[in-house]
Amino acid sequence: MIVAANFKTNHTRESTANYLEALNLFLDAYSTFCDVRVYPTASSFLKADLYSHIKLGAQNFYPIINGACTGEIGAQQLSEFGVKNVLIGHSERRAALKETQEFIAKKYAFAKENGWDIIYCIGEPKDVRDNGFENVMEYLWGEFDGIDINYEKLSIAYEPIWAIGTGISAEVKDIAKVLDTLKSRLNNIPLLYGGSVNIENLSSIISLKSCNGALIGNASLDVANFCKLIQIAQNVQKQ
Ligand code: 13P
Repeated sequence: MIVAANFKTNHTRESTANYLEALNLFLDAYSTFCDVRVYPTASSFLKADLYSHIKLGAQNFYPIINGACTGEIGAQQLSEFGVKNVLIGHSERRAALKETQEFIAKKYAFAKENGWDIIYCIGEPKDVRDNGFENVMEYLWGEFDGIDINYEKLSIAYEPIWAIGTGISAEVKDIAKVLDTLKSRLNNIPLLYGGSVNIENLSSIISLKSCNGALIGNASLDVANFCKLIQIAQNVQKQ
């Protein structure tokens, strides 16, 4: 079970350090089967090996080792911190940063070449959802163009765009339908759900047979809350 915190553009370097220290201490005492990952802002990276129970990840990178790409970070900068986990394809980067499927596939190939763990994000906008399930699946499969689904360090996060940051999660039966359909073609790839996950809804979502975890934004920002989410996931996994 993967429980992942995506900080997006939240927390400072100082508050990230406090958060990670508190989380690692909690995980030291509370042994869990969960694979706990935290994706801070790049300016808040800390050495990944300081936190034995947490996998530190990057929300973004540019597909180069180093070189001339103003404002971006490459593999050399990630490796300085021992970061080997990345998010790719998040809808906020697709929309606001205009990342195309072609560019996303390039990032994906680069991450694969480097042997990084990838959480690959997919999700449909509201107008596609309003046109029914078949349209949703067609849209989601389109987001696999150029993506090697046989890469063994791949997990997929299904994050319906209209459910992100809105406080309105998708309905559990709709999440189940999408994840079951993805699972039928994607075999053993771990599938996460993201989009307004919180303490109230996490248990019913990750109890779904095709759900292997959650990618959490807002509800992960407070470390005590994130610890509770890990406990919920742990309890579901034990059942
Ligand atoms: P929220 O949990 O804030 O809806 O964000 C979800 C998300 O985008 C995680 O990547």
